[in-house]
Amino acid sequence: CGIVGYVGAQSALDVVIAGLKRLEYRGYDSAGVAVLADGSLAAAKKAGKLVNLEKELVAHPLPAGSTGLGHTRWATHGGPTDTNAHPHLDNAGRVAVVHNGIIENFAALRTELAERGHRLESETDTEVVAHLLAEQFSATGDLAEAMRQVCRRLEGAFTLVAAHADEPDVVVGARRNSPLVVGVGEGENFLASDVAAFIAHTRSAIELGQDQVVELRREGVTVTNFDGSVASVRAYHVDWDASAAEKGGYDYFMLKEIAEQPKAVADTLLGRIDASGSLTLDEVRIPASVLREVDKVVIVACGTAYHAGMIAKLAIEHWTRIPCETELASEFRYRDPILDQRTLVVAISQSGETMDTLMALRHAREQGARVLAICNTNGSTIPRESDAVLYTHAGPEVAVASTKAFLTQLVACYLVALYLGQVRGTKWGDEIEAVVRELSDIAAAVDTVLETMEPVRELARSLADKNTVLFLGRHVGYPVALEGALKLKELAYMHAEGFAAGELKHGPIALIEKDLPVVVVVPSPRGRSVLHDKIVSNIQEIRARGARTIVIAEEGDEAVVPYADHLIRIPATPTLLQPLVATVPLQVFACELATARGNEVDQPRNLAKSVTVE
Ligand code: G6P
Repeated sequence: CGIVGYVGAQSALDVVIAGLKRLEYRGYDSAGVAVLADGSLAAAKKAGKLVNLEKELVAHPLPAGSTGLGHTRWATHGGPTDTNAHPHLDNAGRVAVVHNGIIENFAALRTELAERGHRLESETDTEVVAHLLAEQFSATGDLAEAMRQVCRRLEGAFTLVAAHADEPDVVVGARRNSPLVVGVGEGENFLASDVAAFIAHTRSAIELGQDQVVELRREGVTVTNFDGSVASVRAYHVDWDASAAEKGGYDYFMLKEIAEQPKAVADTLLGRIDASGSLTLDEVRIPASVLREVDKVVIVACGTAYHAGMIAKLAIEHWTRIPCETELASEFRYRDPILDQRTLVVAISQSGETMDTLMALRHAREQGARVLAICNTNGSTIPRESDAVLYTHAGPEVAVASTKAFLTQLVACYLVALYLGQVRGTKWGDEIEAVVRELSDIAAAVDTVLETMEPVRELARSLADKNTVLFLGRHVGYPVALEGALKLKELAYMHAEGFAAGELKHGPIALIEKDLPVVVVVPSPRGRSVLHDKIVSNIQEIRARGARTIVIAEEGDEAVVPYADHLIRIPATPTLLQPLVATVPLQVFACELATARGNEVDQPRNLAKSVTVE
């Protein structure tokens, strides 16, 4: 899941290990490194976290060298064992390779290699690459050329980095699908899955495109396409510094990211609403004439981004009257969805690398639909492959469980909905103008919520020994309930479920028993008051059956007071914007509960920040 490569004058091992630490947030369950020194190659790898590898390196030090590579692996083919960890070597131990992704034709290649006398030791798809590279290097004496030849034989999604003992000052990388970025230094160069790995050394970067091979030497980098032709690349300056990827005084990245939400929301709105209240979305490059013809919107996303998409559906349909559906990206393309030139597909992804979402958007484009990405990572694959992009400005999100990215995804979704309403002239009435005005105050409202979170933390600690928590909501409160439950699963490893409150009577109410904590997200009593009244009845129903009610309700909503065992107040907002304030207590709740249960908040077990496999 994390890759680092280095060629320069420093100790390659130090640079690579420090880089891998900065990529830890991506999630992994084993790690390994390889160094070229004195004409030979030495490698070490260990299951578990990087500390295991570091202990191994103390027990069995590697020789000092200034060319090296490393990897943190999140198991796909084969469990997280020492043997399956990367790097993988050929039988002669001359070439080392690390890999992200899946090589789909590895079984056939494995059989073929075995027939030619190679001994393959691991269960991974990666090992075949080491053997193929060794063969091609023997034939060509040029690692970059060997890599191009091997890549042309591989099927699937892969990003590879390799080094060969016979080319001691070279590291070669290849990219298809999952990201690979070059860090350009002076007399040294870097390769990594993302810039965080080398930001301490250089802020000058080159993004590799699809099907490109890079040859890294001390004095420079050469990028070619898989067919050997010279590739055009995009160089850029990284505009955030190492401190943005540090914890900045907080115990966890997640706490820092929760606290950054008012700024993230404000930054995402910045420059997108002018003084007269109209929207300008510069990056949306789908012509207004095309957007006016759109007759259906389909939103695809995974995890937390999917919950943002569920809320976006309500906003888009309400403000534009265009039918909109939101679908899990992993389900979407397998059901033969109906798409054409008049469909607008919105792909929401923090990382811009989630394979399920990427595949869904590729499928949509093949059917002629236009794709608009909502993404937090500049230059990542999803926006690159979309017709248009609206970037969220949350800054780097490091904790695996998404917080500030979610709030900014919501803001971006509202902007898209309002923009569609604006260009189509539908329902562009008083309500939309009011919402645009309210959006400018929303960062301050998020701040207000953050200032009143101590009772939520206390409550969370008091529930640390519970096994189950349920979440209920209606309308926009339903996706918020799902997000609250997802956060609790991810972080506290508790059984948590979100329900549409109206569905309670159709089954879930059977789960209610004495003292079961149930969180209820209550819609504003203003606006759609029917919804409010209905949910107040739902709270009474569960309380009558012994549930311990934790009620999230707007300031001034007195109707809920008699039925709330715990009352969490949020500022009044227009109905559709409520998730921006209602989600925040649920993030704090899950984070505190996880801490109370002794869990690792930033890197929950089994999870990865950016899931680059389907
Ligand atoms: C992973 C993460 C989730 C995230 C989801 C979608 O499962 O653990 O926190 O919501 O991917 O990620 P994306 O980068 O596409 O928003």
